[in-house]
Amino acid sequence: METHIESHLVEKRVFKPPKDFQRRARIKSLAQYQKMYRESIRQPDKFWRREAKELTWHKPWKRVLEWKAPFAKWFVGGQLNISENCLDRHLTGPRRNKAALLWEGEPGEKRTLTYQQLHREVCRFGNVLKRNNIRKGDRVIIYLPTIPEAAIAMLACARIGAVHSVVFGGFSADSIRDRIADSGAIALITADGSYRRGTIVPLKKNVDEALQSGTSVKRVIVYKRAGNEIHMKEGRDVWWHRELEYVDANCPPVWLDSEHPLYILYTSGSTGKPKGILHTTGGYLLGIYCTMKYVFDVRDEDIYWCTADVGWVTGHSYVVYGPLANGGTTLMYEGAPNWPEPDRFWKIIEEHGVTILYTAPTAIRAFIRWGDAWVKKHDLSSLRLLGSVGEPINPEAWMWYRKTIGGGRCPIVDTWWQTETGAIMITPMPGAIPTKPGSATLPFFGVDPAVVNEVGDEVGPNIGGKLILRKPWPSMLRTIYGDKERYKKQYWSEFKGSYLTGDGARRDKDGYFWIVGRIDDVLNVAGHRLGTSEIESALVAHDAVAEAAVVGRADDLKGQAVVAFVTLKGHANLTPRLKTELRDFVGVHIGAIAKPDEVRFAEALPKTRSGKIMRRLLKEIASGQSVTGDTTTLEDFSVLGRLSAEE
Ligand code: WTA
Repeated sequence: METHIESHLVEKRVFKPPKDFQRRARIKSLAQYQKMYRESIRQPDKFWRREAKELTWHKPWKRVLEWKAPFAKWFVGGQLNISENCLDRHLTGPRRNKAALLWEGEPGEKRTLTYQQLHREVCRFGNVLKRNNIRKGDRVIIYLPTIPEAAIAMLACARIGAVHSVVFGGFSADSIRDRIADSGAIALITADGSYRRGTIVPLKKNVDEALQSGTSVKRVIVYKRAGNEIHMKEGRDVWWHRELEYVDANCPPVWLDSEHPLYILYTSGSTGKPKGILHTTGGYLLGIYCTMKYVFDVRDEDIYWCTADVGWVTGHSYVVYGPLANGGTTLMYEGAPNWPEPDRFWKIIEEHGVTILYTAPTAIRAFIRWGDAWVKKHDLSSLRLLGSVGEPINPEAWMWYRKTIGGGRCPIVDTWWQTETGAIMITPMPGAIPTKPGSATLPFFGVDPAVVNEVGDEVGPNIGGKLILRKPWPSMLRTIYGDKERYKKQYWSEFKGSYLTGDGARRDKDGYFWIVGRIDDVLNVAGHRLGTSEIESALVAHDAVAEAAVVGRADDLKGQAVVAFVTLKGHANLTPRLKTELRDFVGVHIGAIAKPDEVRFAEALPKTRSGKIMRRLLKEIASGQSVTGDTTTLEDFSVLGRLSAEE
């Protein structure tokens, strides 16, 4: 692992929260933030008890936290249901007739579901689940595009206590199969197809392939979205719309223990297959409820749009659960930002009057590249707050976002968090904390981050180190599904009692956090997490490949690009087509997002005497001049390997 983390970025600009924003914000000053933060750290029980009282509980909890490191239980003894907190409780007042969900399909259709309507659909679908023998505790895979039915399926699972695991629609049949096997899912919810840049992604076909040989999945519920031809397997597959004909809308929420599992979300780690991050009910709900309330300062009149796909954690916490728990209006968009033209986002904002936009730096960089003219075509004056998530945002992109999209008047919340943390951990409060372009600023309530060196000592200002969290927090992952040991080892073994984030960071003189990026073998490509070892495993599964090493290289657009170094088996021919073939092979085994941007062939990989691949060296080579021309060139690392063998 790379231990030397340096940061040369010096950023002097500071932006105070705009006065009018500040006046109406829930947290109005730095002093107010500091006071609440102090309380959240010194008297966490008191702080969280007060916040948790804003949620609807069926049975009150006995203890706020039971912490037997590294295993946490929050709101022990309490019972509640997340779907009730996201839906039923808003039905008693005027929110009943308010838009809960606005949706736009890529081809341009629009749908609106009020709280009352969404509640009804969730109840009906909850009954469909029950009708299909899905019970409390059962695992259900959701493989859907970003359409209202994805939210309906998630909330319906939560309503009956089934545990959902959403698989991103861009993942391949192999990825679905792995996730089914690991979770032991008994049912799968999908659609015939979805739209992406005008073409139809054959979701159901991928599912059929994933279920081909021996599976725990007994039932597949298919939503008709794209109308593409599909095969329905008798006795296993049923249509969503047909099933609805058999059920009524009466589906009371099941009361669940605060620690009842809500979902498993698979994410890449530094070793092996993706790990199933497990989130539970009470603490997770509180985490996303509070961050949504304070960080986005969401109001009844807001139209809030988080552009993430439901398949990622951002889609779970800040497209579905967070906004709905707060009675907000959440907008969902199915497709690509440049379809049919690069102004699609700005068109959506203008047409729906979006007030809060939450997106990723990789998208922002693409917009910059596509040119301001696309933005200028639209009236974005409804916007009042901007958010960024998924990767470090470079100051130039931040400044462009502020000026060109935010018209200089909208605060930017650069929110740092992870699948594992469930909710935002480091972020400005938009009405309270002055922002600096590129910094996620200060910790959210109850979060105790630190930057430490190899031995776990906190380092001084502007010195790089590893980012850790020193206290448990309500929305933290509870374990890696089915693998407590890996959970302990991966996150809690390096620094006793502290959670290892895998990110590098520094803290400046004002205590602001600057996240540098991953320091483990995880890449962040266009805001998506990919394990280098996952891609390596996919590559070596190819007949021609003997060994593979995957590293990241800085990329202007995607943050990081994937570079694969490959050695071939004796019998294999280095044909000009092999590079494309390997890229496609990774696409089939993981998904298009994991396809290497560059494949470089080598006689042998540089290794230390103990046989470890010298990744640092490969990273340096990868970030140097990229090979142009003949892509089939063989690189000879043997000299380098011998020279650095003593490392
Ligand atoms: C990175 C996404 C810098 C980081 C919510 C983290 C960020 C990983 C930021 C988690 C940010 C996320 N600034 N880096 N504001 N937000 N990251 O699990 O490396 O898909 O560890 O969760 O994204 O990615 P994940």
